[in-house]
Amino acid sequence: MSPSALIDLSGKVALVSGASKGIGAAIAQLFAAAGADLVLFSRNMSPEATQAAFSAAYGKVPLAFRADVSDANAVAQVVERAAAHFGHIDILVNNAAANVTAPLLETTDAQWWSALNANLIAAARLSALCAPYMQARRWGRIINISSNLGVFALANKGAYSASKAALLQLTRNLALELGEYGILVNALAVGAINTDAEADDGRPARDYDAIARTIILKRLGTAQEVARVALFFASELSAFITGQALFVDGGASVWFPA
Ligand SMILES: NC(=O)c1ccc[n+]([C@@H]2O[C@H](COP(=O)([O-])OP(=O)(O)OC[C@H]3O[C@@H](n4cnc5c(N)ncnc54)[C@H](OP(=O)(O)O)[C@@H]3O)[C@@H](O)[C@H]2O)c1
Repeated sequence: MSPSALIDLSGKVALVSGASKGIGAAIAQLFAAAGADLVLFSRNMSPEATQAAFSAAYGKVPLAFRADVSDANAVAQVVERAAAHFGHIDILVNNAAANVTAPLLETTDAQWWSALNANLIAAARLSALCAPYMQARRWGRIINISSNLGVFALANKGAYSASKAALLQLTRNLALELGEYGILVNALAVGAINTDAEADDGRPARDYDAIARTIILKRLGTAQEVARVALFFASELSAFITGQALFVDGGASVWFPA
């Protein structure tokens, strides 16, 4: 197979949660460029604007919805409408997440449920909803966007970290249950990526210089760099890999900053 054929997603339908901006939007754009048909949603996505933008850039109209990934009924409707429209769903990217920040001893039940619902249970539910379509064609890819905080501790990120760690384990168990159907399940353990909006006063949302010093490559990553790894897992390049987590963090997870 030629290198370009290995990353060709023509004929595949990819569903991406949280696709209105950041990493999810970059994945949607790269998958569209690779030829995939898309099903996209987020809480505040404008279906019309999204369809117009993708149609102009890639010549294909995606299905786009406004839906909360934690809302079981809304997500079931997204999958149902996607299957009715395209006839199949081949690739699922569980990207939408709740970025809960609080010291563990002060984390409320509502914050715990928010993290677990969006970051773990929603991914399991979407996987269960999409898997039958993948099983029917004996080919599928489930890509879970986790975090290097699923393995490492950072102050005030306990609930988020625990949910992302659970997502890494969900990846392994789903890989076990779905492998016999030709469905590969892998995760990205993403590090610091520059997707933050600036604050109202124009200041960056995070101290980029301080974060960059903790990364071997001395910079934050870009959403596009994460999307390329998602394409690797969506494509034939990764045909013999399942149940794995790939750290996409500029080396942050392999050293002790002095
Ligand atoms: N950026 C980083 O440094 C970093 C590091 C490690 C891991 N990650 C992971 O990467 C993924 C994407 O993060 P990002 O940085 O790209 O975030 P982002 O720029 O804030 O984008 C998040 C996307 O998810 C959507 N979203 C959020 N909550 C949702 C919900 N409940 N239901 C449906 N859609 C929802 C948002 O749109 P709406 O507001 O319209 O819903 C948006 O499209 C997440 O899983 C995150 O944990 C990011």
